[in-house]
Amino acid sequence: MDNHIKCTITIQPDNEKIDCYSGDNLLQVLNESQVGIRSLCGGEGTCNKCLVIVKNGQYRELKKPQLSEEKKDKNYVLSCKVEIEGDMEIKIPEKSRLRKQQILTKDEDDFQKNFEQKIAKDPVYRQQIVKLPPPSLVDNSADLERFKRIFKKETDIEELTFPYSLIKELTTKLRKNDWQLSVSWIKYGKRGQIIDLDSATKKDYYGLALDIGTTTVAGKLINLGNNVEIASAGKYNKQIKFGEDVISRINYSKNHDQGLKTLQRTLIKTITYC
Ligand code: FES
Repeated sequence: MDNHIKCTITIQPDNEKIDCYSGDNLLQVLNESQVGIRSLCGGEGTCNKCLVIVKNGQYRELKKPQLSEEKKDKNYVLSCKVEIEGDMEIKIPEKSRLRKQQILTKDEDDFQKNFEQKIAKDPVYRQQIVKLPPPSLVDNSADLERFKRIFKKETDIEELTFPYSLIKELTTKLRKNDWQLSVSWIKYGKRGQIIDLDSATKKDYYGLALDIGTTTVAGKLINLGNNVEIASAGKYNKQIKFGEDVISRINYSKNHDQGLKTLQRTLIKTITYC
């Protein structure tokens, strides 16, 4: 039977409420809920950055902070070393809060300017309609040969990578679509790589640009067909519970079984809920 009971953490003075379970770690609960608490040492109990004041509630302190008498009287605890046992009411000192970072998803002018100047003019992802003449007595070379010849001529590339999985589909798709295909491909200088073959009707393709920072993760969803931004979002990087900087996170991955996997899963979780 699961003995964990549902609890509520109330953060004063805003009366903000967070649901959790007994046995949960207070710092993790706060950071999961996007409150954003500092944790320079990654929860080792050595940096004193994650201090919160407990007004009342049930909890177990696994390590007491070294503090002045005045702070001790106010009931400061290291949130990384507090196991929740019941409802709690806390106050978070300004010093313990992660500084509100500007999550750069709304800086539309700069983004649009950069995008138009650097990316839209010479995009990596491209779509091209390719029409092949059917094989004839004059040109009876294989479909792949004819395709490559025409594609290179029309796109001005010198080298083309064509994955085997798509080569297998080429012959059938060409015949099914009256020798005309919509080709999605990636351009690197004079080199190209085919990534998809479809009927010649243009479809929308989307790209996700991510900026993964130690504190925040920001993303933009772009329609690659017309270079229009569809959505943008940003969140605190949930990896923060493993330390504020890269070194703490490297230490975490080295000192814990499956540490690297845990960090990777946490990042994916951040991106998924962005
Ligand atoms: S003491 Fe460093 S995170 Fe709590």
